[in-house]
Amino acid sequence: MVPKISTLGGYIFEYQKSVTNPTGFWSNIAESFYWRKKWDHVLDWDFRSGYTNWFHGAKLNLTENIFERHLFFRGNQPAIIWEPNDPSETHRTLTYSELFTEVQRFSNVLKGLGIKKGDRVAIYLPMVPELVIALLACARIGAVHSVIFAGFSAQSLGERLQDAGAKLLITSDGGFRGSKTIPIKQIADDAMNMCKCVSTAIVLKRTGESIPMVDGRDHWYHDLMKDAGDTCEAEEMDSEDPLFILYTSGSTGKPKGLVHTTGGYMVYTAYTFKNVFQYGDGDVYFCSADIGWITGHSYLVYGPLLSGATSLMFEGVPTWPDAGRFWDIIDKHKVNQFYTAPTAIRSLMALGMDWLQNKSLATLKVLGTVGEPINEAAWHWYHDHIGKNRCPIVDTWWQTETGGIMISPMAGITPTKPSYATMPLMGIQPMIVDQNGKQLMGNSVEGNLCIGYPWPGMARTIWGDHERFVNTYFTTYPGLYFTGDGVKRDEDGYYRILGRVDDVINVSGHRLGTAEIENAINEHPLVDESAVVGFSHPIKGQGIYAYVVCTHFSTGGEEGIRNSIMMAVSTMIGPFAKPDKIQIVTGLPKTRSGKIMRRILLKIAEGKTSEFGDITTLLDPEIVNDIVKGAKEV
Ligand code: WT7
Repeated sequence: MVPKISTLGGYIFEYQKSVTNPTGFWSNIAESFYWRKKWDHVLDWDFRSGYTNWFHGAKLNLTENIFERHLFFRGNQPAIIWEPNDPSETHRTLTYSELFTEVQRFSNVLKGLGIKKGDRVAIYLPMVPELVIALLACARIGAVHSVIFAGFSAQSLGERLQDAGAKLLITSDGGFRGSKTIPIKQIADDAMNMCKCVSTAIVLKRTGESIPMVDGRDHWYHDLMKDAGDTCEAEEMDSEDPLFILYTSGSTGKPKGLVHTTGGYMVYTAYTFKNVFQYGDGDVYFCSADIGWITGHSYLVYGPLLSGATSLMFEGVPTWPDAGRFWDIIDKHKVNQFYTAPTAIRSLMALGMDWLQNKSLATLKVLGTVGEPINEAAWHWYHDHIGKNRCPIVDTWWQTETGGIMISPMAGITPTKPSYATMPLMGIQPMIVDQNGKQLMGNSVEGNLCIGYPWPGMARTIWGDHERFVNTYFTTYPGLYFTGDGVKRDEDGYYRILGRVDDVINVSGHRLGTAEIENAINEHPLVDESAVVGFSHPIKGQGIYAYVVCTHFSTGGEEGIRNSIMMAVSTMIGPFAKPDKIQIVTGLPKTRSGKIMRRILLKIAEGKTSEFGDITTLLDPEIVNDIVKGAKEV
């Protein structure tokens, strides 16, 4: 069994051990798992070349640690509880043994279609149990899964399919999200037509609407499963064989396919899940994240299932049929731990207390947040009205790149402070550096957050581009992993995440590169150029503010351009990347060397009309006044 810390003293003691002897610490944790062959040595690493290898030479299959390891005691325990979008549809429960059978059958389906160890399988599905089955079947046979969030457009999906070199795509006819039906298959078709690699598609029936099936390429999930065998031997994997690729945004336009490997990711997600949430046998745990993002991978699927937990997944949205939906689910399924994003909390808070009438919430023990900084007002609302002053809040800081939670309280153990992620977890060595790379020692300091030593869950590379991996994370501060976040360490040594310090914005917990949005906007034939920045938004955390240079207008005028820019962004990326504000400008504040002075645009987006600092190096300082004037009308 993975050890669970239960006191503050225990944390301090274990933390010290984990940083003075990291390899001893992690090999001890790893002993709790089932390995076909143990490691020769624990860790090889060199941050200068971005190389990390955990549990060198060890062999395993991660799914044996979910199924074979738990079946004897937990065969009849629910592994997944699935709550559908429409509350009048019946929910589904899959026990560990039922899930195991489905996973093995689907593993046989994939093998039957020629998928082998190392092949990439892309998954573009709504939040249905088959999504979990698909992930685990890939892991069972050693295929590398790449889930693409079902809110991405055909263009974005196609780009990711191509980059990953996916052979097969698992998708569905459509999906339900609140009152909407999403035409998933149509988007998938457009994407498959765009890329050259996908030769086979498996289509799940979810909405039942009629869709075209391409002969020889598309197969119905239910047809294939009918004839599939119930047992499938697990493929033996090396500890460092890739488990999945997950795309995320960076400061350039091209999304990065982060690669996570098998042994280290398994150990890290299971250990952090159990300790942060203080999960106990028989608890029902509910993570509201979509499996299309890392939170869903690590803390809806892998961490919980590796821990033998009951993990609840929800297909819908928090505000449909009404804004009490989360609370109804918590009461209906007697949820003990609930993990969601600050955006969801803020939007529900804004809708008022009526939605909490007649909700018990008495089973809740632990509340979690992730994805963006949580402001104090939202923290208190969550604590008082959802947790009824009884449940500790774990504000968990981590990233797609880190694979698992890095800085966070352990529920009920670490004393919390609103809006603080508090303390590093075991084995995590946070460092704060200034602009020049000098490490800031002691407390009451603020700077850029780096991590000084490897941990098992970290990403190993960017798919097909190791050089970019090194340049993005390991060259800004040589010898350290750079997170891209600003951070403060207060007088008590507590960490508070201040937000991104690079050209990445965090909209409702979704990470978007400003360059990515600019590229989409610039595709518009009437746009000469554009600059995108984030601004403080009461619900979304950050909103998207686009400054767009247009010198020609079509018949629709400015309004027409705004609308078609929105359309262009939806088509290129997805509806969630649509700008909140678009300001048409005659030019951008550029230095003589042609660099856009973003700090000015940031200030204007925040409503400032003066104090822009030194603007004498601008090619045309007058442009600033014009933009300030125009901003009032946006
Ligand atoms: C970025 C990573 C990791 C799961 C979801 C997002 C921000 C994440 C927190 C937090 C303040 C946070 C950071 C980070 N972030 N958690 N608890 N407090 N900021 O994953 O899409 O890879 O984004 O989200 O800026 O760098 P992601």
